[in-house]
Order: sequence, then structure tokens, then C-alpha cells
Amino acid sequence: MLKPVIEPSVNAEDFAGQASWAAPSNIAIVKYWGKHGVQLPRNPSVSMTLSKALTGTRLHWRPGTGRLVAFSASGEADAQFADRVAAYLSKMALEHPALARLDFGVETENAFPHSSGIASSASGFAALALGLASAVVAESQGAEASLPEDGPAFRSFAGRLARLGSGSASRSLCGPWMAWGQTEAFADNAEKPTDDHAVPLDHVHADFRTWRDAIAIVDAGKKAVSSSAGHRLMEGNPFAETRFANARQRTLALDRALREGDTDTFVQIAEAEALELHALMMSSKPSYILMRPGTLAVIQAVQEFRADTDLPLCFTLDAGPNVHLLYPASAAAQVEEFIHDAVRRYCDDGRVLMDAAGEGPTRLGPAKA
Ligand code: PMV
Repeated sequence: MLKPVIEPSVNAEDFAGQASWAAPSNIAIVKYWGKHGVQLPRNPSVSMTLSKALTGTRLHWRPGTGRLVAFSASGEADAQFADRVAAYLSKMALEHPALARLDFGVETENAFPHSSGIASSASGFAALALGLASAVVAESQGAEASLPEDGPAFRSFAGRLARLGSGSASRSLCGPWMAWGQTEAFADNAEKPTDDHAVPLDHVHADFRTWRDAIAIVDAGKKAVSSSAGHRLMEGNPFAETRFANARQRTLALDRALREGDTDTFVQIAEAEALELHALMMSSKPSYILMRPGTLAVIQAVQEFRADTDLPLCFTLDAGPNVHLLYPASAAAQVEEFIHDAVRRYCDDGRVLMDAAGEGPTRLGPAKA
């Protein structure tokens, strides 16, 4: 079968409609690690939405058959990335009949530095899924045609589409705190977290709504083992069942800590989850290690700082070597001085990305119907 040609640049005049969204990344406190079925999580996860690590995506559409016909990333053709987006779009065309009747052009750009080692899949798929949800609203005659783009039904629909691209992307649809996956926690939340899509948490203490995340870029290189491969390796991991039970338990404890403003419990959960995630990588078959010596040096410095100052600075890790330093806005002056004096030295080019809790995606311009 001939591969369809994807034009390496997007000419807006070739399309009938468009929607642009900027979506943030997020950092999980209780981690999603292990999946089944159609991108369904093995355990609930909870995350803080970021505000500066954004992807901006303009989706263009015209009558067609669910194909990607033009693509550019940061103004350049990127064949590998284009293939991944094309595969996602043809999957999404099976999800909704309105999408199966369209062809797409995608222009996308990250606001965070290129090759900073920061995963862009959460912000990238969230922004793209929002564009697809806008296309469905613009091109449907049925109930979806009147979905307000700032309402929960639109966000849930986009959240489901985002999940099908990258599970964690579902948690980037709102902020500042999100939960994804079936759980007994958050029982009085307006929307119950489900495996289908993430929901915003209503009862979060004011202190946790302004937490910061300083991302110490220990290694800006591409990681050796992808998250998809990591999720797959959980299938044979001897600690898998214990892991899923721990995550369920910690989600309950984090629910209480977030609503009560209990920073001690928060710190303990965040660090236990980060280390367990990496212990799972080390205990999978084949085993692998994504931490670097600098990762451990930063972790140790954070724990010493906390013991010396009693300030609630803690760390978490994604599936990579970079360290997320989490702290309340009230401790920012001391923590940021510490980062300057004791953390930058372990970072690639001294790079630390300063971010903070955010409210979720923004629509960048009106749709051209
Ligand atoms: O969404 P994925 O498939 O890239 O997986 C994300 C996994 C972690 O970032 C390690 C944890 C999480 O919950 O975000």
C-alpha cells in the first residue's frame, strides 16, 4: 500500500476550518505506570497541571477521510513525529464519525526548550485532542454541535481523545490538580475520576493551588527506554500487584493531604512514588535505569535541605533522569536560592526550568468554520 504523502508545511488556505489550543504538561504525584486494554490505567493517578511547559497546536481541517495531509513541528518537517500524529489521527477517525469525514493539517510548537528532556507527549496530545474536539463541535450537527468549549462535557470528550494518544495527556485538560482512573478517593468531587478520562479536583487546599515545580535538567538527551515500553514491561514485573495496591492506597492518602493542606504526607507520598517508579524499572525484565548520578545528587541535596530548614521541599521524577523540585510559593525565596547554590551545578548547562501550578489549556483563536 502506498503511504499517503504528508506535506512538510501547512498552508491555511488549503483548509476549511481551524482551531488553536495551548495545553500544558503535568507532573504526577501518584504515578500512572502500567496499562491494559485501550490505554486504560492499571491504577489511579493524581497530578499537578503546569503553566509554562506548553505545547501550542493549530489543527486545520477540510472534508476528507481521517488522514494527516500536512504537518510541521516548530516550523519544520519532522517525518517521525508526523507518522506518530498520522497514526493517532487515523485511530481518532475510528472514535468519531465527524473526524472520519475530515483530513487534517497540524502545526505544533513547544514553549519549553527543545531537547530539554521534558516529555512533551502530555501537552502535545492534550493540545491536539482539544483541536479535534473543536473540529467535532464545528462539523457535527448533533448534540456535540452545541457543546461549550469551556464546559465539562467538552473537556471530558477532549480528555478521552487525549488519553488515547498518551494516558497522562488526559490529566492536562484542566488544573491545577487532576485525577485519572477509578478510585474510592475523591468521593465528593463534582465529577468522579474514571478510567475513561481525568477530572479536575474540587477540594484542594488553597496552599496546594500555588505550588511550584522547578525542573532540574540533569540530562537533556533522549531517554533510552520509552514510556510505552516501560508500561509494557509492567506486565511481567514481579511487584506489579503490590505496586497497583500501593498507588490505590496513596491516592486515598493524597486526597486527604490535598484537602487538609498536609504537606508532610504530601512530601512522603511524592518521594515514595518517584522512587517506586524507578524501582519498578530496575526490577523489570530486562531491567533498566533512567536515573543518572546527578539525579541522585539532586535528590540527596533536596533531602538535606529539608532536614536543615524544615521547609516542605520535595522531589519527584518522571520516567527520566530529571528531577522535579516541588515546593509551596511561601518557601520560594529560600528554595530558589538553594536551587541556585546547590542544584544548578548538577544540571545540563546549569538548566532549571521554573514552573508552577496552572489552570489548564487556553484556546488561542476563534475557529474558522
Ligand atoms: O502518558 P505516558 O504513556 O507517557 O506515561 C506517563 C508515565 C509517567 O510520566 C512516568 C507517570 C505519569 O503518571 O505521568
